Amino acid sequence: MIHRLFKTRRLAVAALLAVALLTVPSLAANEATTLNGDAPTQLEQAALARIAGPPLGLPDVPVPDDNPPTAAKISLGRKLFFDERLSHSGKLSCGSCHLPHEGFTLNKGHTPVGHDGMVLRRNAPTLLNVAYQRSFFLDGRQSSLEKQALEPFTVADELANPSLDVVIDRIRQLPDYAGLFEAAFGEGPGPRTVAHAISTYERTLLAADSAFDRWRYGGQENALDAIAKQGFDLFTGKAGCVNCHALDDRDALFTDHLFHDDGIGWIPARDIGAGQLITRRGMPLYTAVHDPDAVATPSDMGRMEITKEFIDMFRYRTPSLRNVELTAPYMHNGTFETLEDVVAYYGDGGFRHFGIDPLVRDLRLNEAEEAALVAFLKSLTAGNIEALIVEAQSKAATEP
Ligand code: HEC
Ligand code: HEC
Repeated sequence: MIHRLFKTRRLAVAALLAVALLTVPSLAANEATTLNGDAPTQLEQAALARIAGPPLGLPDVPVPDDNPPTAAKISLGRKLFFDERLSHSGKLSCGSCHLPHEGFTLNKGHTPVGHDGMVLRRNAPTLLNVAYQRSFFLDGRQSSLEKQALEPFTVADELANPSLDVVIDRIRQLPDYAGLFEAAFGEGPGPRTVAHAISTYERTLLAADSAFDRWRYGGQENALDAIAKQGFDLFTGKAGCVNCHALDDRDALFTDHLFHDDGIGWIPARDIGAGQLITRRGMPLYTAVHDPDAVATPSDMGRMEITKEFIDMFRYRTPSLRNVELTAPYMHNGTFETLEDVVAYYGDGGFRHFGIDPLVRDLRLNEAEEAALVAFLKSLTAGNIEALIVEAQSKAATEP
């Protein structure tokens, strides 16, 4: 793995250098044609530089050999990502559920409302740092960003197009796409080029250089306050969070890339009255059961839906905790609205049932310890988040 990452790092740097050479005006004015003859803007340059050298606290970015990042792919991918004309209703885009100013997820409701008012059964994961995922979707059913990128276009409750051909045809007919695919890939729009452009854009969403990173990896002793430091000690010690939300000596992704049952999936699967879903501490947990509409929510077996193994029932991929302050609601079904609730749930030991991960256990945390854990989680908000939002909301990204 380490070897592979070094290799991809070299590739990324090589790609960046190639682009930089092509775009330095005095060197190759005529070759600086990435976008209808325009030189790449500062935004794309910044995004490329980020892939080659990610913000403090993040490891090298794995980049597939057959899809090296370029400025032209980034700006095209961003345009596709925010283009509502590519949905059946003409009203939805990837950016409708992965909103830049809501942590590249959707903060309202438990789960997103998609095509035709359909309520999705799962919470939209943030796309910040999605470049590092080893599997995609909460049950891990896809193996690469490139493979994932086309699925939402035809899913009935997402962009809801009848087929991918319809989407490709529409792109071909839109005059503002003329020449863009050719400039980026040397060929016109097709499933491969659409997927490669979108995933290249997604790979640029690298968000770190948080207070925690500056303290832990940047040698700035005062970057983190005393309460957050206490929270870090609990996270890596008594509370055992780090067993699943893992970190390394030189960087941290806060995930083991594995699937665990922490009790959340089991709750709605039980046919129990609302009153019984109260934790030891009296916290009403699964509010959705109070909602008569929730009865219609399709069941969710987690990882088991993919592996068909009983042992994987209610297991979900461990999410990264970076930027978690921005990505409410929490858990695969968005059942918690605040980090305080998440920590209190863990503090109580989760909903005991056959199959729950033994690492989720009654932690006997007092209120001050819970508050310290929350303070630590909030120290993981990226220092460069504003820059990412500005890039995403730039005119080039959002106007046809
Ligand atoms: C209607 C809301 C909605 C729209 C529109 C939408 N998504 Fe998502 N997205 C979700 C949800 C919900 C999930 C989690 C689904 C699951 O795990 O089964 C998800 C998962 C993902 C993931 C996996 C992330 C991870 O951590 O594994 C990626 C990548 C992604 N979406 C990108 C896109 C792209 C690209 C588009 C547009 C082509 C798009 N999404 C459109 C709601 C949406
Ligand atoms: C057994 C492994 C495991 C342990 C231990 C663990 N987590 Fe988690 N954590 C998970 C998994 C898996 C999820 C996703 C569950 C879901 O989607 O239903 C999760 C979700 C979360 C979330 C919600 C993130 C989001 O984007 O929705 C937070 C916050 C969190 N954990 C914090 C903690 C803290 C704090 C601790 C220690 C008190 C901890 N976790 C201990 C595996 C673990």
